[in-house]
Amino acid sequence: MDFSAILKTVSILVAVSAGLSVVISIAEKVLNNYGTVELDINNGKKKLSVTGGSTLLSTLAQEKIFIPSACGGKATCGLCKVSILEGAGPLLLTEEPYISLEERKQNMRLSCQVKVKSNMKLLIPEDLFNIREFITELVEVEDMTYDIKRLRMKLPEGMTIDFKAGQFVQFYTKPYGKQKEEVFRAYSISSKASEKDHIELLIRLVPNGIATTYVHTALKVGDQVRLSGPYGDFYLRGNCEELIMIAGGSGLAPIRSLVYDVIEKGLPHKMRFFFGANTMRDLYYMDEFAQIEKDYPQFKFIPCLARPEPSDNWQGVTGFVTVALQEQVDSGEGKEAYLCGSPGMLDACIKILKEKGFTDETIFYDKF
Ligand SMILES: Cc1cc2nc3c(=O)[nH]c(=O)nc-3n(C[C@H](O)[C@H](O)[C@H](O)COP(=O)(O)OP(=O)(O)OC[C@H]3O[C@@H](n4cnc5c(N)ncnc54)[C@H](O)[C@@H]3O)c2cc1C
Ligand code: FES
Repeated sequence: MDFSAILKTVSILVAVSAGLSVVISIAEKVLNNYGTVELDINNGKKKLSVTGGSTLLSTLAQEKIFIPSACGGKATCGLCKVSILEGAGPLLLTEEPYISLEERKQNMRLSCQVKVKSNMKLLIPEDLFNIREFITELVEVEDMTYDIKRLRMKLPEGMTIDFKAGQFVQFYTKPYGKQKEEVFRAYSISSKASEKDHIELLIRLVPNGIATTYVHTALKVGDQVRLSGPYGDFYLRGNCEELIMIAGGSGLAPIRSLVYDVIEKGLPHKMRFFFGANTMRDLYYMDEFAQIEKDYPQFKFIPCLARPEPSDNWQGVTGFVTVALQEQVDSGEGKEAYLCGSPGMLDACIKILKEKGFTDETIFYDKF
């Protein structure tokens, strides 16, 4: 084949593929055009006319109804369940791991997976209508360690947030660099629940993570930050004498809020906070927790370094946090445990706690 024949063939192929992509994009627009769809919520208490085509989670968010979601709609957290009585279509493969047989009977579905294509009847717990959106201003950023930043956001004038210490907010990024779409991720509130006009978060950089790269490289003091919340059931129950608190990395965030809550409310609980880290450079808020220990004898702070460097000159507990738990917590009697950190660390700690007599009713956690 001579050169001009090759050129002609390539040109024809390019033209055909360009034509095909135009046809596909027109077909997508036509096929995904579900027009206006009616949503009936809680037996007619609320009726919405929405544009079809998006997931139920994002459609409701546009209507300022915020369903809990920790994974940003990736079908990995299972938090975004709502009961859809009509109009959802069959259960999807991505939903199956999260919807138990009992929940299937109640028509539970993952709202991040179900697309709004036809009229729907939904049941949504009333308390979710209290979740609000906040357009905040980032007023402070501080490096707490080499990979954890503290963000302090000011709520709009006159707006306040009521949350239970331990709960989280949804943080919405803006497009940056090659990331053209907004994403949202869950971050636990690290500030005091009594401080209602500001929110603080502790955000650890995940290599190549969309939201954390945005926070660590693109976000600046003075920028607007969209948040919604509060969400979650990681908060104090307090039906006990002592609270065993365990965290690693940015898992310190909700525990800090919990510790201050107990102190500010004058609750009688003893508290022991086991914080697991690798080396000295992973420790932060050390002075603050040391000061709380001095001021409130009911609180004990136990940082544990798994691999201290010789130059760290570490005098505290050496070894995994699990070893400290094993040695220092005698039994689960009269205690509740509150854990926050990586799934691996939490699973190992929960195993030990259960061996010591803690139960599913006395162990509370957020894994991330
Ligand atoms: C209830 C809840 C509260 C949370 N609170 C906090 C908090 O206070 N502070 C905080 O820093 N994070 C917190 N997280 C985690 C946070 O929501 C994000 O998952 C995390 O910041 C990563 O987001 P990303 O967009 O940067 O990464 P993504 O773009 O979502 O992920 C990029 C890649 O990294 C992997 N990855 C995702 N998360 C992690 C991780 N934590 N470690 C290692 N690899 C990961 C993903 O599987 C993916 O391969 C919380 C999560 C939950 C569920
Ligand atoms: S938002 Fe996480 S599973 Fe739906």
